[in-house]
Amino acid sequence: MVLPVSARHSVHMNGGEGITSYGRNSTPQRRAQEKLVPLLEAAVADMLRETPNHTRSIGIADLGCSSGPNIMFLVSTAIGAVRRRCSADDVRVYLNDLPDNDFNTVFRQLPESLLWDANIFIFGAPGSFFGRLFPAGSLHLAISSFSLHWFSQVPQDLLDGKLVNRGNICAGRTSSPAVNEAYARQFCTDLTMFLSSRAC
Ligand SMILES: C[S@@+](CC[C@H](N)C(=O)[O-])C[C@H]1O[C@@H](n2cnc3c(N)ncnc32)[C@H](O)[C@@H]1O
Repeated sequence: MVLPVSARHSVHMNGGEGITSYGRNSTPQRRAQEKLVPLLEAAVADMLRETPNHTRSIGIADLGCSSGPNIMFLVSTAIGAVRRRCSADDVRVYLNDLPDNDFNTVFRQLPESLLWDANIFIFGAPGSFFGRLFPAGSLHLAISSFSLHWFSQVPQDLLDGKLVNRGNICAGRTSSPAVNEAYARQFCTDLTMFLSSRAC
C-alpha cells in the first residue's frame, strides 16, 4: 500500500524548541514511557535469548520518534538493557518518522553520551512505518511509543463521501457505527501492513 501524498508529507508534530514545540508539550507521553521501562527490559531480554551469541551489532529502531527529549528516553533504556546483557560490539539506532518531521532538532538534541560513544551509531530513517524502512535482518528491536495509533490515511469511504463524520476528525463518541467500523477496518489494514513490513 502506498500512503497518499498528504499523509506522507504534511502530517507532523510541531518541531523546534519553542513553547509550542512537541518537545516542550509531551510530558504526559514521557510519564507513560517511564512506566514502559520494565516491559522494555523484558523485551530486550527476550530478544537477546533469540539472538545468536556471535551477533556483533544490534539494531534498534524508534518508529514515529517525533522530536524532543522523549526520543532518547526509551532508546537509551534499550541500549542500557542490551549492554548489560550482551557482548555485541556495536548498537545501531534508527530514528524513524515521516519526512516532514523536524530531524534537525532530533539530531541537535542527541545526548553527548550517545553521540560520542564510538560503539553507538545513530541514523535518521525518514519514511512511513506502514512500509519497509530497513534492509532484511537489520533490526533486532523496534520501539514505538504514542505513534502506532496514527492511521496511514482517512478511511476511503469518508474520503469518497460515502460516509460523513460530521463534527469529528477521528472516530469519536458522536460518530455513527458505520464510521467507527470504517476506522476499525482502516486500523486492521494499517496494523497488518505495519507487522508484515517488520516480518523479515
Ligand atoms: C505523538 S508523536 C509520538 C512521539 C514520541 N514517540 C513520543 O512517544 O513522545 C507521534 C509521531 O508518530 C509519527 N508518525 C505518524 N504516522 C507515522 C508513520 N506512518 N510513519 C512514521 N511516523 C509516523 C508522527 O509524525 C509523530 O511524530
